[in-house]
Amino acid sequence: MPFTDNRAFKAAPRMLVAASGMHYTDADGRQVLDATAGLWCVNAGHGRAHIAEALAAQAMQLDYAPAFQFGHPLGFTLASRLAAMLPGDLDRIFFANSGSEAVDTALKIALAFHRVTGQASRTRLIGRERGYHGVGFGGISVGGIANNRKLFGTLLAGVDHLPHTHNPAYAFSRGQPQSGVACAEALERLVALHDPSTIAAVIVEPLAGSTGVLPPPVGYLERLREICTRHGILLIFDEVISGFGRLGSAFAAERFGVVPDMLVMAKGLTNGVVPMGAVAVRQALYDGFLAASPEGIELPHGYTYSGHPVAAAAALASLDIYQEEALFARANALSAPFEQAVHSLRDAPYVIDIRNLGLVAGIELAPGGRPGARGAAMLQACFEAGLLIRVTGDTIALSPPLIIEEAQIDQIVETLRRALDAVV
Ligand SMILES: Cc1ncc(COP(=O)(O)O)c(C=O)c1O
Repeated sequence: MPFTDNRAFKAAPRMLVAASGMHYTDADGRQVLDATAGLWCVNAGHGRAHIAEALAAQAMQLDYAPAFQFGHPLGFTLASRLAAMLPGDLDRIFFANSGSEAVDTALKIALAFHRVTGQASRTRLIGRERGYHGVGFGGISVGGIANNRKLFGTLLAGVDHLPHTHNPAYAFSRGQPQSGVACAEALERLVALHDPSTIAAVIVEPLAGSTGVLPPPVGYLERLREICTRHGILLIFDEVISGFGRLGSAFAAERFGVVPDMLVMAKGLTNGVVPMGAVAVRQALYDGFLAASPEGIELPHGYTYSGHPVAAAAALASLDIYQEEALFARANALSAPFEQAVHSLRDAPYVIDIRNLGLVAGIELAPGGRPGARGAAMLQACFEAGLLIRVTGDTIALSPPLIIEEAQIDQIVETLRRALDAVV
């Protein structure tokens, strides 16, 4: 099983058989409150009939259309809807089937763009320590998690990494840590080391999710943008987690007022109902490819299921719900009570840091014995107590569906406190 302790799972399987609203039903018929929107993706909550009906109708209308050399209307409608939601001139959309594929697509577009526009020496990619960009070879190369890299050989050549932004001195910061912009200055050092003419792109998650919820320090993303612009380096935001309302706006780029050159999305794009990923690129990149290839295929890249009609229908229906129920504004309004609630755990056993932004929080625990063991024990204890959480190492990550009620936020925190009191 993916990213799973298979033997532990076999010994005590956690089987989910149904879902509706804020809850899963497990194989024993118990209701389990979903504090993680599945895997950061079910932003509109579970069992949304509008999405299910849309994809069923689309499967009957047009089940599949070849992605190469043919189009279908929903793909273009979806691209237009996304372009209207995105900041700046991030107007051109390339569809993939997952976050990992979308990341690799963005990295390939960066390399190819420089090459076709006469800057073929720009081949270096820069990621960040503690970054997670999925599991393709591109994603793990720019990613910054040793465990995801060490088994898989030499990865992509010519990749370097920025330092991560986590600073224990700012433990229990609410929202963005006030200090840390210096971490962005490290990009200037990498530029000086490698020379800007060798660097194609920088990729970061605006908020690092999978390595324990690390909100960007104040001014950090703005500074990265300035440095990239000055040196002609493409800036890629991986918004697979931070997109679709998670931080209280459509995208983190909008929340921070920083427009990247490419923006990667997945997960909430279809509310998790069917797989889909996408990359939005600025108009100038699209134009660059067209200008470089007066005829023929401009970008030799794509997937059999790029822009799949059923996924496109699910995505459009998800966007309808986000809009009709004003879920991004709802997430924004809930972020203050959510922050208040999660920080009330500051005095609970083992808690060494709490970080939050929008409707995301990370509660870091002191490791007990083997690193990750306490986190794993919390996952099991919470599940037994009717709460689904995500743990990454010894950090609990919370990212509930945006439809959550305040009473359910309280229930999450109360269950966590009881579990922390009981776990060793
Ligand atoms: C920031 C980020 N990028 C990429 C991915 C990979 O997405 P997927 O699992 O759909 O390939 C994830 C998944 O959690 C992610 O959090």
